[in-house]
Amino acid sequence: METITITGANRGIGLELTRQYLRANNTVIATCRNPSSATDLITLTSNPNLQVAQLDVTDRQSVDAFCASIKDKVIDVLINNAGVKGSANQGLDDMDAESWLAAFNTNTIAPFMLSSRLLKNLKPADRPRIISVSSYMGSISRPGTGLYAYRSSKAALNKVMQVMANELLAEGVIACPVHPGWVRTDMGGSDADLSVEQSVGGLIAVIDKLSMAQSGRFWNWDGEELPW
Ligand SMILES: NC(=O)c1ccc[n+]([C@@H]2O[C@H](COP(=O)([O-])OP(=O)(O)OC[C@H]3O[C@@H](n4cnc5c(N)ncnc54)[C@H](OP(=O)(O)O)[C@@H]3O)[C@@H](O)[C@H]2O)c1
Repeated sequence: METITITGANRGIGLELTRQYLRANNTVIATCRNPSSATDLITLTSNPNLQVAQLDVTDRQSVDAFCASIKDKVIDVLINNAGVKGSANQGLDDMDAESWLAAFNTNTIAPFMLSSRLLKNLKPADRPRIISVSSYMGSISRPGTGLYAYRSSKAALNKVMQVMANELLAEGVIACPVHPGWVRTDMGGSDADLSVEQSVGGLIAVIDKLSMAQSGRFWNWDGEELPW
């Protein structure tokens, strides 16, 4: 059984990742900004394999405190799941530039920072994996309109993961961005294609099987490889 660390675990995809990893008898370090109000996550704490920790991925003090609390615990899988869509105003004629920067902070810079900080915990694992929940909306080869902040922050996240994978190849650490599909969460909305259970079931199957040869590539929730 493995130890999985998940960001943004209080709702949506992060919460369901926590549920399904626990169901498969793994140890989960589920992190979120406000554990005291994370009611759905707290209901899972009767499971002794669940540890809930405070972590705002964009807050340096919070990241410091979380990394210190982990000490030398070995982490098999880090899932950078926390993400934001950004402001409603991110069109050609109404861009909210502050919110664009905030989206970059959460979606691109925070996964890099946390991954680099937890490398010491990941490296001793048998098959360490750094997974960042990205989006096909950031794929350069996929034409689209609008949502400049979200798309560009995920495109940049993909590049970050590819570079990280190259640098960590010799050390045996796998690093991949994944696309969860269009999922019925607060972010995805009620018209989305996939239930959160379906998406997460697929993601976990992909993450379970990832090999070094697949590192640095972009994977869909159903195991298909996606173009950059
Ligand atoms: N749903 C989709 O269709 C879809 C498609 C493609 C990619 N994705 C990606 O999948 C990931 C999860 O999305 P979701 O659909 O589950 O969205 P969601 O329901 O809106 O949940 C987002 C999660 O991220 C957390 N978060 C945001 N900023 C944070 C921060 N600074 N520190 C810690 N946690 C933070 C939120 O915590 P709070 O409750 O504290 O805000 C929440 O737990 C995101 O990276 C998203 O971009 C989703």
